Amino acid sequence: MVRRKKTIGRVVSQTMLAEDILDLRLETFLASDVMPGQFVGVYPAGADALLPRPISVCDADREAHVLRLVYRLTGRGTTEFALKQPGEVLEMIGPLGNGFPVEEAAGKRVLLIGGGIGIPPLYFTASLLSPEGTREYTGGRSGKASSITSVLGYKNIQTFMAPQFAEITDLYLATEDGSAGYGGTDLDALFEIGRRREGSETVADIIFACGPSPMLKAVKEYALIQGVPAYLSLEERMACGVGACLACVCKTRNVDAHSNVHNARVCTDGPVFPAREVVL
Ligand SMILES: Cc1cc2nc3c(=O)[nH]c(=O)nc-3n(C[C@H](O)[C@H](O)[C@H](O)COP(=O)(O)OP(=O)(O)OC[C@H]3O[C@@H](n4cnc5c(N)ncnc54)[C@H](O)[C@@H]3O)c2cc1C
Ligand code: FES
Repeated sequence: MVRRKKTIGRVVSQTMLAEDILDLRLETFLASDVMPGQFVGVYPAGADALLPRPISVCDADREAHVLRLVYRLTGRGTTEFALKQPGEVLEMIGPLGNGFPVEEAAGKRVLLIGGGIGIPPLYFTASLLSPEGTREYTGGRSGKASSITSVLGYKNIQTFMAPQFAEITDLYLATEDGSAGYGGTDLDALFEIGRRREGSETVADIIFACGPSPMLKAVKEYALIQGVPAYLSLEERMACGVGACLACVCKTRNVDAHSNVHNARVCTDGPVFPAREVVL
């Protein structure tokens, strides 16, 4: 359900996970029905107050009404969020976007591929789908996967959240500088997994991925070659976050019913798209 009215999140805690990467817990009723792959718009104060900053949901505790956001210090908005102390509030809107179709993963071998700041939303996905995960939904929208492999790509040894993924998934790490895991991209790591599991036809039955465009493009090609359905979460630049300004359009194979062009709004039609449908 998309709520377009602003609401409040009260800071429960804020800690630093790695250099420039913060872990923010907010008490908000938005935690009650958000799904993996959805995001919230967080408003800075002052001159930038009109434009919410899109931040993916990293985890949600429905009972405690606590939403977890993991974000990178980037510019004015995120720098302001980083200064918030427990008890202070942030204005927010959401849950926004469509999220990953987790119901399609029930009973299947799931592969999660994340790069950089695209890693946090995959944790909520893993937690809900993993047989060892702590999140359970009774609404009937999801069942557990048969297995989850996660392939996470980082720049360097600052492999934030990797220990948490290791608890609930079969984790493979890649770092660009080779300081941890495979030296190279997460796609390099993926091919290594393929080599190790010689004999099994494919590594997975379904892929969920989030990260920078070159990574998503490589995942799309990998999925097409493997003949495995893949869903990609795009990190397009956004402004309004609610479908009104067209700042976030991406190219698609299908024609949009309203505009009659090969476009989709990432904020409302996405951010998650079937790999076959999106042009990268
Ligand atoms: C669907 C989605 C989910 C995201 N999830 C996360 C997340 O979980 N963690 C995280 O660290 N970052 C995430 N981002 C990126 C995050 O939105 C930007 O880093 C953030 O908006 C930067 O704001 P700023 O004011 O600090 O930076 P500035 O550069 O000062 O921002 C100026 C303007 O540009 C927009 N902008 C700048 N960079 C981006 C970007 N990459 N994507 C969209 N808008 C941008 C801002 O919203 C703002 O309106 C996500 C982006 C999208 C589209
Ligand atoms: S950000 Fe305005 S339409 Fe998507």
